[in-house]
Amino acid sequence: MTNSNISSIDSLLHQTTYLDNGQLVEWKGQMDDVYSTISSTETYQPTHLGTVPHMDEPTALKVLDSAVRAYDQGQGSWPTMKVKDRIECMSSFVEIMKTKRSEVVKLLMWEIGKTLADSEKEFDRTVEYIYDTIEDYKQLDRDCSKFEKVGGINAHIRRGPLGVVLCLGPYNYPLNETFALLIPALIMGNTAVFKPAKHGVLLLSPLLEAFQQSFPDGVINVIYGRGREVAAPIMKTGKIDVLALIGNSKSAIALQDQHPYKNRLRLILGLEAKNPAIVLPSADLDLAIEECINGTLSYNGQRCTALKIVYVHEDIKEEFNKRFSKRVDELKFGQPWEDGVKLTPLPEPGKPAYIQELIDDAKEKGAKILNEKGGKTTENYIYPAVLYPVTESMRVYQEEQFGPVIPVKSFNDIQDLLNEISKSNYGQQVSLFGDNVEALAPLIDVLANLVCRVNLNSSCQRGPDVLPFTGRKDSAVGTLSVHDALRSFSIRTFVASKDNPKNNNIIRDLLKSNKSNFVNTDYLL
Ligand code: G3H
Repeated sequence: MTNSNISSIDSLLHQTTYLDNGQLVEWKGQMDDVYSTISSTETYQPTHLGTVPHMDEPTALKVLDSAVRAYDQGQGSWPTMKVKDRIECMSSFVEIMKTKRSEVVKLLMWEIGKTLADSEKEFDRTVEYIYDTIEDYKQLDRDCSKFEKVGGINAHIRRGPLGVVLCLGPYNYPLNETFALLIPALIMGNTAVFKPAKHGVLLLSPLLEAFQQSFPDGVINVIYGRGREVAAPIMKTGKIDVLALIGNSKSAIALQDQHPYKNRLRLILGLEAKNPAIVLPSADLDLAIEECINGTLSYNGQRCTALKIVYVHEDIKEEFNKRFSKRVDELKFGQPWEDGVKLTPLPEPGKPAYIQELIDDAKEKGAKILNEKGGKTTENYIYPAVLYPVTESMRVYQEEQFGPVIPVKSFNDIQDLLNEISKSNYGQQVSLFGDNVEALAPLIDVLANLVCRVNLNSSCQRGPDVLPFTGRKDSAVGTLSVHDALRSFSIRTFVASKDNPKNNNIIRDLLKSNKSNFVNTDYLL
């Protein structure tokens, strides 16, 4: 794709269909406009990208019924299918998906303002995630292709699906994070209703046909619209077995509250975080500064794994603040496809004003903006402000800013800092910068109990996707990774038979006849 291709919108994309029961059904009702905050004209104006259905409750419930029918209380062809056949569907999907790379990447840039390099990475990482999931599922199946004999019982233990999944992804990784839920959910034999987030919706259009062509009717269904109007009524029916959501705890709790049988509802949630960086006196400052730049500002800080507060030891705070602020001001703001661009338009039109509120509040309570460009605002951006000294009373300390503003707080006594972090509502990850093993060891031991990933001398991140991704407190429910997600979306279930000649003959016949997809010891190559 040439840059002229990606830097202009030649035609609008009207997504007039939704995916229901294997059919791309024409939506005849209200449509919602999709705008990009990227301007293609000299005087600023948002760019019209197209439209998507504004679906209503009755249609959402009809689509839900397609997923419920396809699962059919575990009797549907998808949940009872041979593992190898489900893998074939997924393989067919990923092959078609790969042909849509340039369309999806372009829409990622326009819809959510992600840089070209990061948009390509998001696509490629998702494709790799699917391949890795297929391989991991094969291994899981191989490990289950056997009987265990214990206490006079022969047990054939597998992992079975959970039921119907409502899948809701976030706008910052509308492809990767959504698929990191959807792919394991489907491959394990669940059926799904998927609703894209508020931003990053059209980029799924090129993949709708791939879904339709690759999976049996009703296995994957795609709806559009407001969460309140379509997702909440779906939950209210009590027909959802798994709520898989990457977003914030407020929406997760509101949706759970709708469900009439809470004990039946499984939760797989990736929620808010406020990952701290801790810069110790022994830290290599060049490295710490570069990692903190990436950690706080890649994709403008709109990552759940972003560093959202930086704690610097008193002894090095002046040096750190000076050099860090200078580096922030060197970052180039521009359109996502421009060379060397690091900061890009914010997809949420109200975000610059919100960040400005946080800055004003911090300034009122005694913080200063350390960098010259900090807080400079345009129609679609607010240049990252490094705020120091930040205190616990400030909103920027308390709230997950999810955008370009960097609170810095100094510390003297590491125990005080640990006490402070342990009071936090969040518990995803931490970045620890330092070289002194004596100081690091006790810190690591405590931090590992406060969060779920301690990054030594590097910024926080989710990847590589084979590593466990989870959090404590308000940051997550359940664990995701290629390997763990297959477990999160399934349950152990088994066939047990007393070890006697009659039963053993039946088992032998079952295996020989190849009639059961469950009692099966075929080895997947
Ligand atoms: O929004 C949270 C994402 O999981 C972050 O993923 O660390 O790979 O950017 P990442």
